Amino acid sequence: PASDPDLVARARAAKEALGERVFVLGHHYQRDEVIEFADVTGDSFKLARDAAARPDAEYIVFCGVHFMAESADILTGPGQQVILPDLAAGCSMADMARIAQVEAAWAALAAAGVQNQVVPVTYMNSSADIKAFCGRNGGVVCTSSNAEVALDWAFQQKGVDTKVLFLPDQHLGRNTAVLKLGYSLDDCVVWNPHKPNGGLTAEELRAARVILWKGHCSVHGRFSPTVIDELRAKVPDIKVLVHPECQHEVVLKADLVGSTEFIIKTIEAAPAGSSWAIGTELNLVQRLARTHPDKNIVFLDRNVCYCSTMNRIDLPHFVWAMENLVAGNVVNRIEVDAQTEQEALVALQRMLDLPG
Ligand code: 13P
Ligand code: SF4
Repeated sequence: PASDPDLVARARAAKEALGERVFVLGHHYQRDEVIEFADVTGDSFKLARDAAARPDAEYIVFCGVHFMAESADILTGPGQQVILPDLAAGCSMADMARIAQVEAAWAALAAAGVQNQVVPVTYMNSSADIKAFCGRNGGVVCTSSNAEVALDWAFQQKGVDTKVLFLPDQHLGRNTAVLKLGYSLDDCVVWNPHKPNGGLTAEELRAARVILWKGHCSVHGRFSPTVIDELRAKVPDIKVLVHPECQHEVVLKADLVGSTEFIIKTIEAAPAGSSWAIGTELNLVQRLARTHPDKNIVFLDRNVCYCSTMNRIDLPHFVWAMENLVAGNVVNRIEVDAQTEQEALVALQRMLDLPG
């Protein structure tokens, strides 16, 4: 549906009044009505870099989810304030790993006699205190666009016996370790934070190379290999393009896998007339279908599948946050405490320093 013209005019006026003082970042899963006002759009890796690249902007309005705004706060200067237009825009996957659970797992790894071989790697989709945990324990942050390089780096940190504890998305961890780095499914174990000792024996921990946290994305977890088979039967030349947060069985059947930025670039480079089934959040797939009418683009699920927390940032919340800034009120500021920020920055900086 078309946006309310009054709200559009108010958003434009607020943006104009703030000028260079505000920098608006928009994740690819945001609604069109919000993307329209973004100064830059990107995947979570690009947005983290872009946030750091505007030291002159007083306000960073982050149209995305909570962990992204936290990362932007960590990567921006002390004079800059990061605003999340709706504080309820969290991420269910990030919420699946709490710092107390991660500390308990770390202690269990010590008790099993393997902790000194383990390098923790956390997906960007995690809270700042888990990034800080990685920072102080020799680990790194990764995103869906650099998980392979980050895991490769991690496996070189403790010699041939290195193990990786991958937080919190088991699918990104498994897909990267098995399909990109050549580990086997038998090298991977899943740590369940709701079971004593993660549901694993000390023997299993000693044999494992990749310890995957039992977290997942509820949006990407819905795509199934069966739908891929059905689509291929109907449209034999269809190409299947999915995000690495999808289950391993889905990624195995796909033609291409990559971050949201990769998905966009792939579609932009695709020839007219080509057919694509895309397995990622629906706002992005609908936008790609609309902006590429010469290509046949379908969503890889029978049902509607928006990320409900990404969708919380809508035009009314955006206008509310922006008009408050114009009036001199900073609302919904995301501020990471100094100690957490310092340690999380170590892990984020290791990621930004990775090759490629
Ligand atoms: P990317 O934009 O990094 O591909 O991540 C997708 C995602 O789920 C963000 O929450
Ligand atoms: Fe989190 Fe999944 Fe939504 Fe991304 S799409 S913000 S991983 S719930």
